[in-house]
Amino acid sequence: MTRRPLIGGNWKMHLLRADAEAFCRHVQEHGAHPAAECVLFPSAPLLATVARGLAGSDFACGGQDIHPDDKGAHTGDVSGPQLVDAGCSWALCGHSERRQDHRESDQLIGEKALAAERNGLKPMICIGETADERKSGATFEVLDRQLNAALAGRPEPFALAYEPIWAIGTGETATPEIAQKAHARIRDTLADLIGSEAASSKRILYGGSVNPDNAAELIAQPDLDGFLVGGASLDPERFLAIVRCCG
Ligand code: PGA
Repeated sequence: MTRRPLIGGNWKMHLLRADAEAFCRHVQEHGAHPAAECVLFPSAPLLATVARGLAGSDFACGGQDIHPDDKGAHTGDVSGPQLVDAGCSWALCGHSERRQDHRESDQLIGEKALAAERNGLKPMICIGETADERKSGATFEVLDRQLNAALAGRPEPFALAYEPIWAIGTGETATPEIAQKAHARIRDTLADLIGSEAASSKRILYGGSVNPDNAAELIAQPDLDGFLVGGASLDPERFLAIVRCCG
């Protein structure tokens, strides 16, 4: 099964409107890359600017988070209908910084994935182990638990991002072998949950200190279908260099 590579740029709490506009102009001039699908995840105040700036390009826009409810008294949160209204087609669910900073539970992340689906957004569900969990041999157990909870309500479609927490923003990328082992395990677990044909069509991205120098050997792994890029997605030239490795 050929899976079209998918590359996400997670801007986290970085960039201002002028930077976002300049990024989008760069994409409009240099971004066309039919072999790969790309999506940028700017912070909430930049969503409409980026969605507008990317219009007509090959790039999509997504929210970094989504509330399980469609509206209500939830100060600081962003709902699915608001993401759609801003021009988004994707929503990140369960990024490890949300799990850690906001104590998001596995179950909540499953509810967020369903909220995305209900609103016609594609959830990109993030899972990954801490350094301690890896050291104690619990990696697969953690991935299975997170995956089971996130997919409990059967959102469809979705993409997954394997993001080992020890590799995020640290410069310590998983080796291609470590990444492939985790991705293969995720696909096996996915096969148990949704059947092997559906599992083989799902894109599993790797995230954690991806850059233009390590992207090519990572993407060569059979179960690795793209990247969720943090730091290196802030500069359009570096981001597009990563995208070009995936074509
Ligand atoms: P990083 O972040 O590329 O800066 O390690 C990845 C992510 O958190 O999605």
